[in-house]
Amino acid sequence: MKSALLSAPQPPPSRSRRLRRAALSDFAAKYARFFWAGLVKHGQTGGIVPSQRFLIEKMIASVPEAYSGRLVELGAGTGALTFRLAARCPAARILACEINPALARDLGRNLKNAGLGDRVELFAGSATQLLSNLDNGNAPRPDFVISGIPLGNMGRERAHALIGSVRRVLSEKGRYIQFQHSLLDRKKIRMCFPHLRTTPVLLNFPPAVVYCAFKSAPAGVQPA
Ligand SMILES: C[S@@+](CC[C@H](N)C(=O)[O-])C[C@H]1O[C@@H](n2cnc3c(N)ncnc32)[C@H](O)[C@@H]1O
Repeated sequence: MKSALLSAPQPPPSRSRRLRRAALSDFAAKYARFFWAGLVKHGQTGGIVPSQRFLIEKMIASVPEAYSGRLVELGAGTGALTFRLAARCPAARILACEINPALARDLGRNLKNAGLGDRVELFAGSATQLLSNLDNGNAPRPDFVISGIPLGNMGRERAHALIGSVRRVLSEKGRYIQFQHSLLDRKKIRMCFPHLRTTPVLLNFPPAVVYCAFKSAPAGVQPA
């Protein structure tokens, strides 16, 4: 009797259980890819796990939900921030950039599978190249540049050049939002963006700071 029960065919898992399992394995695959990128290209990747919820929420909190212009994301990685941003701002067009070809390929596929291919454009290349294209093109200037690029690993000159390019492409009322895992780059950002807000985010692994830098002085933000 016992063995008959054990060998009885099991009912197929419910749809919600299958979806949960698929989401879990997708999540694990994204972490594994990022972890691998962090091991083999540590300087470029700047970490071994993608950003988590609290940091992402802090990064995108100042983008109005109804924003319908253009947003640029530098260093999209597995898309941890990209997907949340797309969900928060359904009317916005996002231009996401990722230099690591393996991460960019996966992200492109995941965006397409999520039906975001028409709203999120992926540039598989360097931020420097993308910013130069934007600077020389005729497209409207973005109001937000959001970045997770590990500036501290780039070297002083390259980091300065990148921050300067961000400032050039932003619209006059634009903001540059950048996270880092240390305060070492604060001075570099402040040299280009005197109006700067710095917020620590401790509920992330590893803990981070979010810089919100304003191209022109906003009400209530004094030069840092
Ligand atoms: C710290 S990770 C952040 C990834 C993702 N935004 C997140 O929050 O999980 C930095 C990402 O920037 C990418 N990256 C580094 N330098 C870059 C560059 N010059 N241009 C574009 N992407 C770059 C790395 O490959 C990596 O995916």
